[in-house]
Amino acid sequence: MSAFFAFLHHVAAFTLVAALAVEYVLIKDELTIGSARKLQLVDLAFGVSAGIVLVIGLLRVFYFEKGPSYYFHSAPFIGKLSLFVLIGLLSIYPTVQFLSWRTSLKAGRAPVVEPRTLRAIRAVIHLELAGVVFILLFAALMARGIGLMA
Ligand code: HEM
Repeated sequence: MSAFFAFLHHVAAFTLVAALAVEYVLIKDELTIGSARKLQLVDLAFGVSAGIVLVIGLLRVFYFEKGPSYYFHSAPFIGKLSLFVLIGLLSIYPTVQFLSWRTSLKAGRAPVVEPRTLRAIRAVIHLELAGVVFILLFAALMARGIGLMA
C-alpha cells in the first residue's frame, strides 16, 4: 500500500511540475487565443495535481510512512510543507489573471494584457518553479532523517 501511495505522490508531483513548466513556456511568448486557452487548461491541471499531492502527501504522513511524530519533528518536512503553502498562495495571482481572460476568449479575442501584468505573471511562475526545486531537496532530506529535531 505504501508503494502505491508513493507512486501516486510522484505522479501527481511530476504532473504539477510539468504543468508549471508548460505555463512558464506559454507565458513567455506573445499571447494568442490558443496559448491563452492552453494556459487556462494547464492551470486547471496544476490546481488539480496540487490538491492530489496535498491529500496523498498527508495520507502518507499520517498512515503510510514513518508516522506524524517523525515528520512534525523534521525540519525539512516543515520547510517542504511551508514552501508548498507558499507556492499555493503565489499561484493565486496567475490563476486569477488567467480566469479574467474568460470574457475575451469567449468572444473569440486574444486577451489584452498589460506588459507589466505579463511580467508579474512570469515572475510569479518563475518563483514557483524555484520553490519546487527546494521542495525536492527537502523531500530527499526528510526521507533520510536529516534535520530531525528533538
Ligand atoms: C510540489 C510538491 C511536492 C513534491 C514535488 C514532492 C516530492 C516528493 C519526493 C520526490 C519524495 C521522495 C523523497 C525520497 O524518497 O527521496 C517525496 C516524499 C514524500 N512526500 Fe512529497 N512532494 C510534494 C509535496 C508534499 C506534501 C504537500 C506532503 C505532505 C503534506 C508530502 C509528503 C511526503 C511524504 C510523507 C513523503 C515520504 C517521505 C519518506 O519516505 O519518509 N509531499 N515527496
